[in-house]
Amino acid sequence: MDDVTDTVFRQIIGDLAAPDLYFTEFTSVDGMVSQAGREAVSRRLIFQESERPIIAQIWGNDPEKFFKAAQMCAEMKFDGIDINMGCPEKSVVKRGMCSGLIHNPQLAAKIIKATKDGADGIPVSVKTRLGMREIEPDWIKHLLNQDLAALIIHGRTVREMSKVPAHWDEIGKVVQLRNEINPKTVIIGNGDVESYEDGISKVNQYNLDGIMIGRGVFKNLWIFDKSGQIHNPSTEERLQQLSKHTKLFVETWGDTKSFAILKKFFKCYISDFDGASELRTKFMETKNLKEVQTLVSASI
Ligand SMILES: Cc1cc2nc3c(=O)[nH]c(=O)nc-3n(C[C@H](O)[C@H](O)[C@H](O)COP(=O)(O)O)c2cc1C
Repeated sequence: MDDVTDTVFRQIIGDLAAPDLYFTEFTSVDGMVSQAGREAVSRRLIFQESERPIIAQIWGNDPEKFFKAAQMCAEMKFDGIDINMGCPEKSVVKRGMCSGLIHNPQLAAKIIKATKDGADGIPVSVKTRLGMREIEPDWIKHLLNQDLAALIIHGRTVREMSKVPAHWDEIGKVVQLRNEINPKTVIIGNGDVESYEDGISKVNQYNLDGIMIGRGVFKNLWIFDKSGQIHNPSTEERLQQLSKHTKLFVETWGDTKSFAILKKFFKCYISDFDGASELRTKFMETKNLKEVQTLVSASI
């Protein structure tokens, strides 16, 4: 998730309950291959060995740039490359990128091929939606014909953004298509999964190979705990975890990332206890690590 799943957040989550697979934030191939843009996007591709297996997610509309970006990902020793064909942001869709590729299947195929050619054998996957304005099985069939290592399906159309519940029955139909067209492609379902148990039940119900969880991690930082145990951390534990996250954020990014980006995580820690809302308001006024640490000490 953009501005969420950077190396800091992945390390924090990995220490609590690690997922089987990590994905980077989506990273522009235009940025990666240009001298001027490289520095700006490079932060997105930083990772530690503890975050393996890790997949670089990339986006754009120029096959040649995907080829070069894939070479770079392979050199950086990523475990795989995922191509974003699902982001519904109008500005990128208009430029024929991300879900803008749904109605340009020929270019999508060229992009996949170029990425595979540059990837030096590491697996290449695609993340996409069910269709543009309506469900488009032909789009899914087209992708299944590209011999992808995995296909990740966010169970909504582009038009639906995130406004309706994910259509899990349609994700199930993708599994059936996969069985007919290309049994080797791994199918991962995505959309609204809020617990480990819910994920496993969807895997079983729809015969999926895996589940991708995005926003569910905000409500439960232990969501990837395979015991399925519901964690109910004490206020002290929550605040100490927040302090740890803030410290790692500041140590990793210094002045290169705005402190405001960190604040979107405060709600993950400061919620579900008496007085959480008032305390969160105080934390939202902090401007640096020292202020967070002082407030944490004063609050436990
Ligand atoms: C803040 C935010 C940033 C996101 N950034 C990305 C991204 O960079 N790449 C991507 O494939 N999907 C991105 N998504 C979409 C999620 O990965 C996911 O497909 C969507 O939120 C539905 O799944 P969920 O209900 O598990 O969150 C983002 C979603 C959110 C809320």
